[in-house]
Amino acid sequence: MRRKWVGGNWKMNGSRAMTSSLAGAIVEARINGVEVALFPPFPYLREACAACAGSRIGVGGQDLSEHESGAFTGEVSAAMLRDVGCTLVLAGHSERRQYHKETDQQVASKVSQALEHGLTPVLCVGETLDERDAGHTAAVVSRQLDEVVSCCGIEAFARIVIAYEPVWAIGTGRCASAEQAQEVHALLRSQLARDDARIAGSTRIVYGGSVKPGNAAELFAQPDIDGGLIGGAALQATDFLSICAAAG
Ligand code: PGA
Repeated sequence: MRRKWVGGNWKMNGSRAMTSSLAGAIVEARINGVEVALFPPFPYLREACAACAGSRIGVGGQDLSEHESGAFTGEVSAAMLRDVGCTLVLAGHSERRQYHKETDQQVASKVSQALEHGLTPVLCVGETLDERDAGHTAAVVSRQLDEVVSCCGIEAFARIVIAYEPVWAIGTGRCASAEQAQEVHALLRSQLARDDARIAGSTRIVYGGSVKPGNAAELFAQPDIDGGLIGGAALQATDFLSICAAAG
């Protein structure tokens, strides 16, 4: 039985005050039966970690460097994220792949850095609308997953959360149907199962892309959907908490 997981990806939103009050409200709700993580922007990690200290809510970065340390202006390393109290990190979010041209290989190196430093990587995969329309969804997500399996090994998936986030559903209000999402989740899990059935059975594969209080329960009821990575709806405590309740 896989425990459900819900993450709030705040993207480039908020302030110190908003971070403390939103994270504080989520901690105070004492969510049970579901693992919860918050991903605020880098400068607010400290506030988020302080608000979540002593709770079971994890805090993570939205990105990390593929490098260990050194002359990489603007980058943030896995060790730095650990140092400020993070326990997780997103890797390969579609906005990074799309706007910053991150390649599958770079994303795999980021996952590897995260693992090396004891962070739980949340590996994001997903196809664009053009790729879906051309019938390439399976090929795209398999390629994205395969690169990480080749680089980090199948055993690493005991510590990785996978987020399936179709690019056409992110921030568009156009959520994948429960059936569309389930189909891709099942495909990702069967791909892992070809290497190790036990690990495939325990890896959390969560869905992201316009998850709202109104559609969360149906998505999370699918056999291979183990929770969600929430963007827009993570910025309101009531919405985020009702999505967490749908996973509990
Ligand atoms: P959204 O974003 O919920 O606003 O669609 C999800 C994500 O990008 O993680």
